[in-house]
Amino acid sequence: MPWAAPGGLEAARMDETPQPRPPERHEFTPRDYFQRLQRGEILRDGRPLEVDLGCGDGRFLLGMAAHYPERDFLGVERLLGRVRKVCKKACKQGLENLRVLRLESRYTAEWLLPLASVSRLHLLCPDPWPKVRHHRRRLIQQEFLQAVWDVLEPGGEFLFKTDHNEYFEWAVEKVAAFGNFEQLDWPEDAFFYPKTDFQLQWESQGKVLQGLRLKKGER
Ligand SMILES: C[S@@+](CC[C@H](N)C(=O)[O-])C[C@H]1O[C@@H](n2cnc3c(N)ncnc32)[C@H](O)[C@@H]1O
Repeated sequence: MPWAAPGGLEAARMDETPQPRPPERHEFTPRDYFQRLQRGEILRDGRPLEVDLGCGDGRFLLGMAAHYPERDFLGVERLLGRVRKVCKKACKQGLENLRVLRLESRYTAEWLLPLASVSRLHLLCPDPWPKVRHHRRRLIQQEFLQAVWDVLEPGGEFLFKTDHNEYFEWAVEKVAAFGNFEQLDWPEDAFFYPKTDFQLQWESQGKVLQGLRLKKGER
């Protein structure tokens, strides 16, 4: 006798309907992906917000959130596996000041983050897209710098690190052309700044990272 689903074929089909993925407890899901977030949606009242674009496996983000319980942290990452990993670690560590958004970084900066709301925005070891024909995929472009400037609060900072010399030079040029950031010194001991997973990997291969610390200047 052929297999028959209880309730008939229709019920069986309905059972196969893909269900929405339940979010992790530390996952941040915007109510509306087509409107800028309101400050209160991600920020606890009056607390500084730091954003880590492309947070990867979250070593830096988790370290920062543990070190600065009085600040809020939002990691942005497009890979689901990495989002889940970071959320699970945040849960295990009992961190209440960290959320992870599964979304594209540029979209998040350009369209989602509230204007003048971010105290520090971190872009650490982003994909360098070394081939010339792929340079347009690099995050650091004029539109992106404008978006970062717009979401930073007055005096807010954009921090960038890369192991890739040519991408670093590219970033320096783009920032100079943009013209609205003030470059600050960034000695290694300036403040607590945990190394990222990729930084550790590159440094173990003898690579040296370069960084830019840029402050939102007044126009
Ligand atoms: C080279 S890894 C660096 C990860 C982390 N920042 C670190 O230093 O260990 C780049 C990360 O950014 C994510 N990523 C790359 N492009 C992205 C984009 N456009 N939007 C969101 N995430 C992105 C990748 O999935 C990856 O996890």
